[in-house]
Amino acid sequence: MEKISIAIDGPASSGKSTVAKILASDFNFIYVDTGAMYRAITFLAIKHQVAFSNEKALVDLTRKYPITFKQTARGQLVFADGEEITQAIRQPDVTAAVSEVSAHGEVRAELVEAQRQLAEAGGVVMDGRDIGTTVLPKAQVKIFLVASVEERAQRRYKENQEKGIEMDFEAIKEAIAKRDYLDSHREVSPLVQATDAELVDTTGMSIEQVVTKIKEVIYSKGF
Ligand code: DC
Repeated sequence: MEKISIAIDGPASSGKSTVAKILASDFNFIYVDTGAMYRAITFLAIKHQVAFSNEKALVDLTRKYPITFKQTARGQLVFADGEEITQAIRQPDVTAAVSEVSAHGEVRAELVEAQRQLAEAGGVVMDGRDIGTTVLPKAQVKIFLVASVEERAQRRYKENQEKGIEMDFEAIKEAIAKRDYLDSHREVSPLVQATDAELVDTTGMSIEQVVTKIKEVIYSKGF
């Protein structure tokens, strides 16, 4: 496979990271989880008692504590400020605040720069909200993944149970709908389908079916 860039965007819990990881592994590409980067800054803000509204202090955190990823047999681990934060960034306190933190233009500018550097050599699958529109507008393949709120809440509920995170189903559904709204209505780089992205509705589809569908899109472009 040619070292192309594949951008996968879509709302919370639409299955982006699951399929992005499989594609990256199948093509031997690197996988960049940009949501994990916004979550890491949110985690650092909580840890260092920085207000989610304090844009300047949040930018200072991103400069002071670079976020790094490490591929291991246990999956991709996330590190910042001298500790492994892979699980911590998935906890409800981070999830509840990440939309506010990621709405700041200057925080985004810092992370977008880091994301572009990670993709510089090509051979990358990157997932997020603004990859096809802002981070990698020249990505050879752009996918916009969607699914109903009900189904996304069910997936997240199951995922949380497997990870031992306790959260009521209705609360998850509400949190997803709220995050959808905030992510799509923010001023800077809102969640929106790139005009040249392929829309894939994963409601009722298995992971394998979604991966197959995306590969069809990739191959149909001649890669
Ligand atoms: O994909 P996720 O749920 O881990 O993302 C966490 C939050 O980060 C999400 O609510 C919006 C934000 N985000 C963003 O604004 N831009 C991205 N490229 C990725 C995530």
